[in-house]
Amino acid sequence: MGARATKGKAVIISAMQGTKIAIGGKGGVGKTTVCAILAQLFAESGLDVLAIDADPNSNLTSAFGISSEQSPEPLIKMKELIAERTGTSKDSVGAYFRINPKVSDLPERYWLESNGLKLLVLGAITQGGAGCACPEGAFLKALLTHTILQRQELVIVDLAAGVEFMGRASVQGIDALVLVVEPGGRSIETSNNMAKMAKELGIGSVAAVANKITEPSQTYDIKSQLKNIVLLGSLPYSQAVQKSDMNRSAVFISDPDIIQHLRKVKDALTDLISTKENIKSDC
Ligand SMILES: Nc1ncnc2c1ncn2[C@@H]1O[C@H](COP(=O)(O)OP(=O)(O)O)[C@@H](O)[C@H]1O
Ligand SMILES: [Mg+2]
Repeated sequence: MGARATKGKAVIISAMQGTKIAIGGKGGVGKTTVCAILAQLFAESGLDVLAIDADPNSNLTSAFGISSEQSPEPLIKMKELIAERTGTSKDSVGAYFRINPKVSDLPERYWLESNGLKLLVLGAITQGGAGCACPEGAFLKALLTHTILQRQELVIVDLAAGVEFMGRASVQGIDALVLVVEPGGRSIETSNNMAKMAKELGIGSVAAVANKITEPSQTYDIKSQLKNIVLLGSLPYSQAVQKSDMNRSAVFISDPDIIQHLRKVKDALTDLISTKENIKSDC
């Protein structure tokens, strides 16, 4: 590789360090799969990556091939830690609590280092919405705000719910929301709704990845029905990916073709984010 190309790569790497990416979409479309592979691809390109599982059914670690016995307990389930940080006793109901608990020391204490990156399992609240006025809600919001606004890593969040519960400041700290879309009206609808909400909240960019494609016309259909969402790429349906979930093995080593497609998605996402960054710094 020539000196100019190396320099170009270094510039892109430094532009991406500190970037915050959220992965969204309807249940079952492939968010966790895409999140795990993209996280590993970014780590392979030399970035310091923090992957966050913010899904109530935490399973990002399994996509990395980490067994459930070795997977850390989601932070949202650590009742004593939440009680200590929010100033509530373990079983108190309706008590006052700190809405801004200290959480900045927690990622280092609880992340798992694996596959060349850091993995933090937050989990999410299922009852009453993630933004509920309860100690767990305040704790989760504080952690997401901290990771999105203060961390230096490239942060990539596997998000089950939409971005609304995160609060405007942290939503605005997200550089790109990547929506995974499968060929289906409900998935497209969910993505258009999530994109609309994210844009209203002032998110950086909204992009999409078509997944589980079995014929080219499906990609065209998806592209034509997405409203003002950049399509970064399209991934074929892969039996090997499906099988890796069945075997609970690392999806990264399941199908080289899918990895190749996601490399292109990663490059397109890098271009999207760095172009936006350039526009911002030119203003
Ligand atoms: N391109 C693909 N081809 C075949 N199966 C896929 C593909 N992407 C994801 N899957 C499978 O679809 C299921 C749901 O994927 P997952 O990533 O867990 O979705 P989500 O996180 O959106 O719920 C899993 O069994 C996964 O292996
Ligand atoms: Mg998932």
